[in-house]
Amino acid sequence: MHFQWYPGHMTKARRQMQEDIKVIDVVIELVDARMPYSSKNPDIDDLARNKSRIILLNKSDMADQEKTALWKNYYEKKGFFTALVNSKTGSGVKAVNDVIQKACREKLERDRKRGILNRPIRAMIVGIPNVGKSTFINSFAGKACTKTGNKPGVTKGKQWIKLNKNVELLDTPGILWPKFEDQAVGMRIAFIGSINDDILNPRELALKLIEFLLKEYPGALAGRYGMEERENAPDTLIEIAKKRACLLKGGEYDYDKAAGFVLDDFRNGRLGRITLEIPEMISGAETALDGKEQNRTEENPSEAVSEP
Ligand code: G4P
Repeated sequence: MHFQWYPGHMTKARRQMQEDIKVIDVVIELVDARMPYSSKNPDIDDLARNKSRIILLNKSDMADQEKTALWKNYYEKKGFFTALVNSKTGSGVKAVNDVIQKACREKLERDRKRGILNRPIRAMIVGIPNVGKSTFINSFAGKACTKTGNKPGVTKGKQWIKLNKNVELLDTPGILWPKFEDQAVGMRIAFIGSINDDILNPRELALKLIEFLLKEYPGALAGRYGMEERENAPDTLIEIAKKRACLLKGGEYDYDKAAGFVLDDFRNGRLGRITLEIPEMISGAETALDGKEQNRTEENPSEAVSEP
């Protein structure tokens, strides 16, 4: 399996974001707590240069708590303000207000010295597809109504959601495309479903996930499917197909169907709290606020083969 693409409409979305960011004080970036590195697009470090930065580890309900603590510490050391959230239930969402105030303290102080008082902080949400941007905005803005389902590249007049007297949120999230040259990163993005499944081989993808789970989370599959985990991924998939009675017309096992169960269960957190990467795995390749960021791949719109 080879992952490499950059849909044309993302170039337009990036340009729009560049425009929007000009009037923004703080960029709130959502990452998936199950893969806080791979779900973070390094472009944003460039786009949001000189802005206050917050990283929200969303979907923290599905991530391994110990590893989430490592990631929180990791990004804080890089100079980001961080918080753990579960946008689906709203847990941790309220506290984001305080984090915004902390992240903008210097700006507020500067404003005050220049005699600018009571100007609300302007915030923007960004993140790759499926990371939970719409869900977070709905939860964060509460009763303040939010339009969801905004498509990248669709330019409307800027609309602001007044969260309180101190903070205004741009109602359209900035959508970033996952970016990588490391195929392992592409694989993880596919595991969480941020890449259109149509262009992937689900069985191959599920086998990779099973291989990871057997090694890093032994017992997770056995717990879910009530079977015995085997030494390798293909044999384990056979056990899952048997247990779930995934059968084709001729009576043969339907491994694609079983693969679908595994991917779906992982994406919905039914295999338990699982995190796919830890900070040590990516040392040397990370992005940072210290000006040493490196791009993970060349941007190449001509390689566009699919969109989310
Ligand atoms: P996006 O705007 O960034 O593309 O993502 P969106 O909000 O549409 O969320 C993508 C999926 O992730 C949704 O599930 C949403 O419910 C789920 N989600 C968002 N935040 C969290 C979280 O903190 N925890 C968990 N467990 N799930 C979260 P869906 O299956 O597409 O729809 P549905 O289940 O809401 O019907």
